[in-house]
Formats: sequence, structure tokens, C-alpha cells
Amino acid sequence: MVGYGAGITGVGSFLPKKVMTNSDLEKIVDTSNEWIIERTGIKERRIAEDDMATSDLSAIAAQRAMENAGIVPEDIDLILVATITPDHLFPSTACMVQKHIGAINAAAFDINAGCTGFIYALTTAKAFIKSGIYRKILVIGSEALSKIVNWKDRNTCVLFGDGAGACIVEPCEEGFGMIAEELGSDGRKGDVLIVPAGGTRKPTSLETVEEGLNFIEMDGREVFKFAVRIMGKSSKSVLKKANLKTEDIDLLIPHQANIRIIDSALKKLNLSKEKVFVNLDKYGNMSAASIPVALDEALKVKKLKKGDNLLLVAFGAGLTWGSIVLKWNKED
Ligand code: COA
Repeated sequence: MVGYGAGITGVGSFLPKKVMTNSDLEKIVDTSNEWIIERTGIKERRIAEDDMATSDLSAIAAQRAMENAGIVPEDIDLILVATITPDHLFPSTACMVQKHIGAINAAAFDINAGCTGFIYALTTAKAFIKSGIYRKILVIGSEALSKIVNWKDRNTCVLFGDGAGACIVEPCEEGFGMIAEELGSDGRKGDVLIVPAGGTRKPTSLETVEEGLNFIEMDGREVFKFAVRIMGKSSKSVLKKANLKTEDIDLLIPHQANIRIIDSALKKLNLSKEKVFVNLDKYGNMSAASIPVALDEALKVKKLKKGDNLLLVAFGAGLTWGSIVLKWNKED
């Protein structure tokens, strides 16, 4: 193939069965259903079973994506797992997924870019496809955030949920698939969204556990301000790279963190609500899993057809951000 694109040829997702509602949270921390809905838009979230780790959620989503693309595990050249909740510090969750699904011919590694992880992973997949190194890449965004949430901290525990989404990325018709992308990070702001202990900076000890330092800590206001600013800025910048205008977008799938952040991004972009896909009311913020799960649901309700312009945009710990414009390449 002389000129070719890199596009998504299969999508799948998996959400744990167990639902935790806002009323359930009222029994754990000093909060209310009304506060959570008004300040975030979230009504409920899914919680992984005790014996389910991120790779278990990932493997089911991956099976579904492979079926959707019409490929078998042996076809896969590379597995990329975007996650901030790996099964272990090492080996990578991608290697665990490889074991679960039997993708014996694949290389495998994880990508940690906070909630922007899936955007980073898709962009990495495109680079491997366009360079000719690989032809079939399994890209997963997957999180078991309930395992690293501090269930005593009302500032964070109401926000997050568990789930997994997966895509198969392959060469596609030129001019289709991923047509522009923009990635960014600002490491100076690492402290505003962090798990302080459990790595080499502060290894896990009795003290770190007692002080709750192995859980998520967040400066919500700082993240909020950053998110509102960067969603509009990154979207505009990637649209410019793609030579498109806001009105050319058929569907926007933003990172699903907070409905107020999404609404202000829509305002900045001057985009109507009908063009944005939102499912955060059902799942909360699933970090790297948010966008692929939303993409799978959007496809199931026929929100995308071949030739449509799809904009994905995310922000997260790092701080990181990223956006991708795709000309949808897949037939129904
Ligand atoms: N229930 C009830 N009250 C709560 C609460 C909860 N679950 N969480 C926080 N509050 C309280 C705060 O303690 C604060 O009280 P105070 O004024 O007495 O200190 C008050 O509500 C208002 O806090 P504030 O931070 O101004 O609320 P907010 O409107 O900014 O909403 C967030 C808080 C966390 C929802 C919001 O800042 C946010 O969404 N930030 C971004 C988070 C995010 O997206 N993180 C992931 C990034 S990938």
C-alpha cells in the first residue's frame, strides 16, 4: 500500500455488573445525591468485583473488539494498554492481557498518561501503523479505579468508576481514520492529581497506608480550571491541523469527567449539545476507559457512519491533554 491511513476497525467494551448509586455513597461519606448530580452530572458508577483486576476487564473488552473487527488473537502484532490502575507495578497490564486472550504473536506495553491515556495510545498505534512496523494493534483503555480511591474522601470518591474499552487499529483507506492529533503535557502540575505513595518516591509503608497516601489525591478546583481551558484549546488546535472547522464535526466524544467541564468546552467551541456523546451519568469518570467505552456506546446507537468527522478530546493527570480527529473509516 503506497498511501494509507490508520483507522479503527473494531470496538468493544466491558462494564462490571455492580452498580454504585449516589444514594449508596450517601451512606459512606458526607455527600448527597443532589450535590453530586448538580456539581458533576454523575448518577451512578460501576465497581469491579474484588477478584477482578484491570487486565480482567481489559480482556473482555478486547475479545469484543476483536470479534467486531473480525480478527483472532493470533493476528495481533501489538497490545497497548492505557491505564493508571495497572494490575502490578510490573509486569505491564498489557502482558497480563496478552496472557488472558492468547495473543501469542504480540509485543505488549502500557501507557500511563492519566485520563488522556487512550488518546496517547491511539496516537502511538497510528505511528506504528504509518511507519509500517505493525498492521494490527489492540488499543485498550481500562481502569479499576475503585481499588485506588479513598472511600473516606468525598472530594474524590464520588467521581470515579471502573470499566474498559478496546479498539483494533489497522491500515485503512487513505484520507480516512486518524487524520490529525495533538498531545501535550505539563509535568510542573503533577501534584494536583496524584497517588503520592506506592512508587519509588514514597514506597508503601505502614505510615503511607495509615495516612491514606496510596489513594488518589486531587486539587479539584485546579483540575477543573485546567480542564475547562485545555478542552477548548486542544480541540481548536487539532481541528486546525485537520483543516476542519467546528461545524464540520459530526460527533464529539470528550473525556467523561464532569458535565460542567463538557458544557463549558461546548461553549468555547460553539458546538451544539446534539453533537456531543455523554454517558458519565451512568459510569462516572473511568479515566483512560472513558473515551473507548463512550465510542462503543455511540456506535451501538448509530451515532457514526463512514465519512463522519469524529473529535476525541481528553485531559488528565500529568497534567496531560490530547485530541484526535478521525474521519470514520468503518462501514456499519
Ligand atoms: N459532597 C458534598 N460536598 C462536597 C463534596 C461531595 N462529594 N465534595 C466536595 N464538597 C464540598 C467541598 O468540601 C467544598 O466545601 P467548602 O466550600 O466548605 O470547602 C464545596 O463542596 C465546594 O467545593 P468546590 O471544590 O468548589 O466544588 P466544585 O463545584 O468545584 O466541585 C469537583 C468539585 C471535584 C466536582 C470539581 O472541582 C471537579 O470536577 N474538578 C475536576 C475533577 C476531575 O475532573 N478530575 C479528574 C480529572 S481526569
